[in-house]
Amino acid sequence: MKLRIVLTFLFSIVMGVLSVVTAQPKIPVYLDRTKPIEERVENALSLMTTDEKVALCHAQSKFSSKGVARLGIPEVWSSDGSHGVSDEKIWDEWGGAGWTNDSCTAFPALTALAATFNPEMAMLYGKSIGEEARYRNKTVLLGPGVNIYRTPLNGRNFEYLGEDPYLASQMVVPYVKGVQSNGVAACVKHFALNNQEICRGEINVNLSDRALHEIYLPAFKAAVQEGKVWSIMGAYNKVRGEHCCHSDFLLNKILKNDWQFDGVVISDWGGVHSTDEAVNNGLDIEMGTYTNGLTTQGHFPFSSYYLANPFLEGIKSGKYDRTVLDDKARRILRMIFRTTMSANRPFGKFVSPEHSQAASRIAREGIVLLKNDNQFLPIAVGKYKKIAVIGENASRSLVVGGGSTSLKVAYEESPLQGLKDKYGEANIVYSMGYASGPSLYGRAEPSKLNADSLVNAAIEVARNADVVLFVGGLNKNYFQDCESGDRKSLSLPFGQDKLIEELLKVNKNTAVVLLSGNAVAMPWVDKVPAIVQGWYLGSEAGNALADIISGDVNPSGKLPVSFPKKLEDIGAHSFDKLCYPGDSVNVYYKEDILVGYRWLDTKKLEPLFPFGYGLSYSTFTWSKPSVDRTDVKTDGTVIVSFTLTNSGKVDGAETAQLYVSKPKSEVTRAAKELKAFKKVFLKAGESRLVTLKVPVSSFAYYNEKENGWDVEPGSYTLLLGNSSRDIKGTMNVKVL
Ligand code: BGC
Repeated sequence: MKLRIVLTFLFSIVMGVLSVVTAQPKIPVYLDRTKPIEERVENALSLMTTDEKVALCHAQSKFSSKGVARLGIPEVWSSDGSHGVSDEKIWDEWGGAGWTNDSCTAFPALTALAATFNPEMAMLYGKSIGEEARYRNKTVLLGPGVNIYRTPLNGRNFEYLGEDPYLASQMVVPYVKGVQSNGVAACVKHFALNNQEICRGEINVNLSDRALHEIYLPAFKAAVQEGKVWSIMGAYNKVRGEHCCHSDFLLNKILKNDWQFDGVVISDWGGVHSTDEAVNNGLDIEMGTYTNGLTTQGHFPFSSYYLANPFLEGIKSGKYDRTVLDDKARRILRMIFRTTMSANRPFGKFVSPEHSQAASRIAREGIVLLKNDNQFLPIAVGKYKKIAVIGENASRSLVVGGGSTSLKVAYEESPLQGLKDKYGEANIVYSMGYASGPSLYGRAEPSKLNADSLVNAAIEVARNADVVLFVGGLNKNYFQDCESGDRKSLSLPFGQDKLIEELLKVNKNTAVVLLSGNAVAMPWVDKVPAIVQGWYLGSEAGNALADIISGDVNPSGKLPVSFPKKLEDIGAHSFDKLCYPGDSVNVYYKEDILVGYRWLDTKKLEPLFPFGYGLSYSTFTWSKPSVDRTDVKTDGTVIVSFTLTNSGKVDGAETAQLYVSKPKSEVTRAAKELKAFKKVFLKAGESRLVTLKVPVSSFAYYNEKENGWDVEPGSYTLLLGNSSRDIKGTMNVKVL
């Protein structure tokens, strides 16, 4: 009996010990990855002190802000930029930290992506760059940029997706989804109207509600509502007198109320100017304060940021409402749970062969063939013994410079190297021809090399060659394609126009390859047999260009921006200085909704090369298009169909573009607006039925009296073409 009691006693002790050892400790809801995000957010919020919440709302270093260390909630680490993940920076400086594991893949700049006219390329791009950001443990990738190309002088156009709101919207959505599939937040920027770099920190943009909603906001709206982007960056400039980083109108009203954005508003670096406005007007995380864009180092304590101690004191004194703080903290926590604390976050990869292939595919699809007389291109391997390559852009790094997008790359295949690899080193002779000077931020320094000697040497090389490939354009120097400054003119810099003329004098077989993020004037356009617009193509630039020039790949890019004959043909340059660049206080968008081809077409100005334009080595024939109905309701859809045939000898792609025009309207309308496009790949000789679907709601204009979108009833013309100027067929529909 005694033994039984003892055994029972011992058994219960053992069971007790075992149950203590094996019992699962109850994890708090915010750490339970099986719980819905909103529950986790609320739970975390309920456990945090006021100080901890405020600490989420401002930087702790140049590119990071705090998490909640006590609760194991990670910090937020962001990185530039749109076309490659930047190197690690010194804690509170712009300078590189000198790590040896952070040399990235450079993807083509976003104008090149836009030129693919292929949303699948945008998805591939987003997914690939997102993988690089994930591997590098970033929470936020500071891109893509979707500011609309208003003037070819804007130094940052290369970071954006062109001049058309529909094209930019179609491309930004898959990019965002691709990035975020890696558990990394995309950050669309710069919201909004940062369409010039001159006076960008202060300039107050004055524009109509129509221009705002029809031209400058759609890509942001698509990123928010269709792309479900998790963060957005405010712009440096002002609108309606308020800085965009704390604009009640843009952030509270439009973004958070009308569009129901549930993510985080991050300031541009140094874009915050007031605690009251930052607290109340929709900003969530303040970055880069006390730095002027990229120019000034900040050695101020982070605790003195507008959203740091001044915010905390205001909360404690009752000046600021606690619900405002909770709203910011909630959004930041939501972003953290969507990214670094997500259950399904993949691991990413960095500089993988797949990323090189992605960069190369996008580059090849984005290169635009502008001119090709008598099939000057392609130049088959073995056709010529001596190919002269002239021009600094053939050998200069084009991933370095430009401001915040400057990259430290694992490799960059230059055009010169690409051509050597393709045609054989022995068949290529190189001469620089012109020199631009070092890549500096905020100032330009001319090259110390003697310009005349460079020209003379190039002429001699060109004279003795079978064919000349001039590789020039702009670069990432200040006053070129570079942040914080705009270009000074539409012309090619560094004496290139003159050089091209000189080369043509000694060798008529001179083709021009332009690498730039902007349109340039081409006074020699009629004299050269072939022109290729190559943008900035990243790590695979040389391979992609050589593939196009040799014909291994058939060009299929289309211009995402108009190339005007002269600057004054652009809407923003058709008025006085107040229209561009403004008087340093205000700028007035007098061209209103008529941006890019909308202006050129409506004002009947002939462009040098139109929006949507690009040649192929193949030819395509188009059947007469038809529309599935002639009468349609405002909430209906029209479907346009036609047969496209590759009537040439090589496989290739053509991009069908559908524009809509409203001949008689109660408001000003552009002559035509892009409403649908489809890139179609066809084998030589192949035909395919192509359909383009257009919701009639997209015919709407923004009605300023009613503050909403209105589809006018009546007749519309649908124009199907392979550019904004080459229309293959028109159809009429009546909206009832
Ligand atoms: C740029 C942003 C960039 C940030 C951080 C700013 O000057 O405008 O686009 O993300 O710097 O480098």
